[in-house]
Amino acid sequence: MTVVEDAARPQAAGETVLEATGVTMRFGGLLAVNDVNLTVREGEIVGLIGPNGAGKTTFFNCLTGLYKPTSGQVRFSGTPLPPKPRAVVRAGMARTFQNIRLFANMTALENVMVGRYCRTSAGALTSVLHGPKFRREEEATRARAQELLEFVGLGRSAEHLARNMPYGDQRRLEIARALATDPKLILLDEPTAGMNPQETRQASDLIFKIRDSGLSVVVIEHDMRFIFNLCDRVLCLVRGEALIEGTPEEVQSDPRVIEAYIGTGEDDDEVEDDVPGGEV
Ligand SMILES: Nc1ncnc2c1ncn2[C@@H]1O[C@H](COP(=O)(O)OP(=O)(O)OP(=O)(O)O)[C@@H](O)[C@H]1O
Ligand SMILES: [Mg+2]
Repeated sequence: MTVVEDAARPQAAGETVLEATGVTMRFGGLLAVNDVNLTVREGEIVGLIGPNGAGKTTFFNCLTGLYKPTSGQVRFSGTPLPPKPRAVVRAGMARTFQNIRLFANMTALENVMVGRYCRTSAGALTSVLHGPKFRREEEATRARAQELLEFVGLGRSAEHLARNMPYGDQRRLEIARALATDPKLILLDEPTAGMNPQETRQASDLIFKIRDSGLSVVVIEHDMRFIFNLCDRVLCLVRGEALIEGTPEEVQSDPRVIEAYIGTGEDDDEVEDDVPGGEV
């Protein structure tokens, strides 16, 4: 089974999918992201690492139109992207969130179906009202959602309410919902946060499977073993700036990266694990 439908399948290996140049995001006096560049090619898995508060989520928010960057440009498949979430999703970029955002009182299947509505003509409201005219499209949406649940390993949880699902399953459900938009590129913000080692290994396998189906992936994680095993390239942000970008080997062996995580102890403020206001 493939995740990518023909319309979204990359045309040639190695073509640039995402090109972010000079992305800068200022909140008042705080420069949360400062002149960051990132290029992602077809079939690549790129890691984004950095200490708490480094600007990783803010950078994702700039890429996906949740924030309008103070300056810089985001091009997707060669076309400048307007900073509007719907336009970004339609262009072929999907994401998951650091703090899981599911419809808690809907089933797993319904959550994935919601992701699909950006690709159907009926729209969410009409489909919810079950107009007979749209029944066929609704069936196709349902079948595709079930297929995606199976792809992420949740085929048996289709009728479970999202709020009753174990945490690791909720993370996988978010990925299924993002895949339902038929993306070319998926951005994952801490997909293994709160997972046990076995779930983390499964998440790795799932991301490889997503890549093998023809998508590109950008993944934020604090789990370095996970990142360095998974990624083709890694970008490390520190205090909003790109410290280094390179292969896992290059980044792993750079003493500045280790220092950034451990800190010099001189000017490190205590940073909360889950940054308040870090997401909109
Ligand atoms: N909407 C906002 N308004 C003001 N400041 C913000 C906002 N969003 C993020 N920030 C600040 O920008 C900086 C970067 O935060 P961000 O959430 O992007 O970091 P992060 O690298 O994702 O960190 P973590 O690993 O903890 O998730 C932080 O200092 C944060 O407090
Ligand atoms: Mg974050």
